[in-house]
Amino acid sequence: MQIYEIIRQRRSVRTFEKTKIDQTVLEELKEYAKQISNPWNIEVRFVFMDAQEYGLSSPVLNGEPMYIAALVDRVEHGEEAAGYAFEKLMLKAVSMGLGTVWIGGTMKRENFEKACGKADHERMPCITPIGTPAKMSLKEMMMRKGVGADSRMKSEKLFFNEDMDHPLKTDNMDIHDALEAVRLAPSAVNKQPWRIILKDGLYHFYEKHTKGYLSDAVGDMQKIDIGIAIAHFDLVLKERGYASELIISDPEIRVDEDMEYIASIKVLR
Ligand SMILES: Cc1cc2nc3c(=O)[nH]c(=O)nc-3n(C[C@H](O)[C@H](O)[C@H](O)COP(=O)(O)O)c2cc1C
Repeated sequence: MQIYEIIRQRRSVRTFEKTKIDQTVLEELKEYAKQISNPWNIEVRFVFMDAQEYGLSSPVLNGEPMYIAALVDRVEHGEEAAGYAFEKLMLKAVSMGLGTVWIGGTMKRENFEKACGKADHERMPCITPIGTPAKMSLKEMMMRKGVGADSRMKSEKLFFNEDMDHPLKTDNMDIHDALEAVRLAPSAVNKQPWRIILKDGLYHFYEKHTKGYLSDAVGDMQKIDIGIAIAHFDLVLKERGYASELIISDPEIRVDEDMEYIASIKVLR
């Protein structure tokens, strides 16, 4: 299946069959995890953990046989790199029929950090369960309702041309779909903090901050959301035959006070 379709069909999975993951599937996923790169060139390492062996659980999950933890050094742009790389891994898992969900809050963090062997110089911003998706539990349905998980903001509120006064319109279906892939991305508490302004041929990504997402253990959780969004944008463009280059240079466009410039993407044919 095409990556664009996988992105469109993906949803957080919190209820799993108790069955173990097929060994060949698991090995393929582990091999894939080893070669994931990100445009910040910051190493993100992945640790696979058996739920039973390490006694790991999360109050929002049921039946999950395994977890993956993502670890990254405490460096500038570490959150974006982790978001980008971990989303690539999660989409690969989804393409192989597995369920995933980003978990950054609803788990006993210290248990997971110990189990995955996090070093002092590292952060373990998030984990995901992996396993075969099962029928959604009532708890899961309620949780989705609570955060409005099935809805997303309209594109005119997210994507702009030149400045914040002009919504971005494009006739290029590839760019349209890459933007749609950003709009459909998962984000912490479904806050959708990504904003994009197209100016001088560059897609400038901004973070629209919500209070309460900064912590020593994670860094800035909403920067992870932006990393995920850039991964979606990139993956769809790559699938359509474009190359992209990440540039970090603030174009100094006048934006809302709660918006922070993160990175720009140059799309190349
Ligand atoms: C960085 C990040 C952290 C998240 N943390 C949690 C979490 O701790 N617990 C949880 O149940 N869901 C968590 N989520 C999942 C979001 O709630 C979910 O992606 C969002 O509601 C949209 O739903 P969807 O993924 O089904 O499209 C997190 C998502 C992201 C991107």
